[in-house]
Amino acid sequence: MSEMLDFLGTAEQAVATAAEVIRTGLGRERSISGKGDRDYATDLDYAVEDAVREFLAAETPDVPLLGEERGRTGNTESHYEWVLDPIDGTVNFAHGSPLYAVSLALTRNGMPVVGVVEAPVAEERFTAALGHGAALNKHPLTVRGPSALADAVVAFGDFGVTPESERRNAQRLELFRRLVPRIQRVRMLGTAALDMCWTAAGRVDAAYHSFINPWDVAAGVVIAREAGALVTDLDGVDYDTSATSIIACNPDLHRALLAEIAS
Ligand code: IPD
Repeated sequence: MSEMLDFLGTAEQAVATAAEVIRTGLGRERSISGKGDRDYATDLDYAVEDAVREFLAAETPDVPLLGEERGRTGNTESHYEWVLDPIDGTVNFAHGSPLYAVSLALTRNGMPVVGVVEAPVAEERFTAALGHGAALNKHPLTVRGPSALADAVVAFGDFGVTPESERRNAQRLELFRRLVPRIQRVRMLGTAALDMCWTAAGRVDAAYHSFINPWDVAAGVVIAREAGALVTDLDGVDYDTSATSIIACNPDLHRALLAEIAS
């Protein structure tokens, strides 16, 4: 078995552990801690991250980990890194919405090579490893093919909530003003990890985020690419974890969307 598939197996076990922590904690009262202006984490975000950290430290002690809640730890010399969002879609989760997911990627020199995203309520696990295809609960995934903007359902990232987001939000509103009359529908799921996976599964045709962190999308990048999507930043440069924006969809639609964004 290839090294990538070994890592995928480890990632699946780690995410299964995480999903179990979430299922066990569901229905209990949540404690919420503020991280910034309208930005917070629940006790389960921390509990899930800690459980995954413990599992991966035992299984792959030489591979460092970057997690949304506790930052970067481990061997700084490694070319590999685990990238974890314990609960992507925290605001949805805290509101009782089922649209949230655990997202775990393995990156090699900043390029995502293994991805597992699990939505515990739907009992859906999206998986991919470089060169081995993408799957949803073991069924192969392929992106949908519309090339015309008029046929495209596009999932957008949240608007920013910090004062520094004002300029970006204004640009996004301007983009909406131009795109909305041209595309089929806008979607805003509130979880970038699922935006990427739903693109891979053809439930939406594109995912577009003008500001993004690596833990939100790294796993979804492998899943979308292995399902046939082109995944770049908004300048059209292939996505790696140094990117701060992302667009994922089939190559023809990608060309049409980038042209519209640049116009
Ligand atoms: C958020 C979600 C959301 C995206 C935000 C992220 P979190 O992640 O992925 O879709 O638009 O930028 O911060 O905070 O729920 O893990």
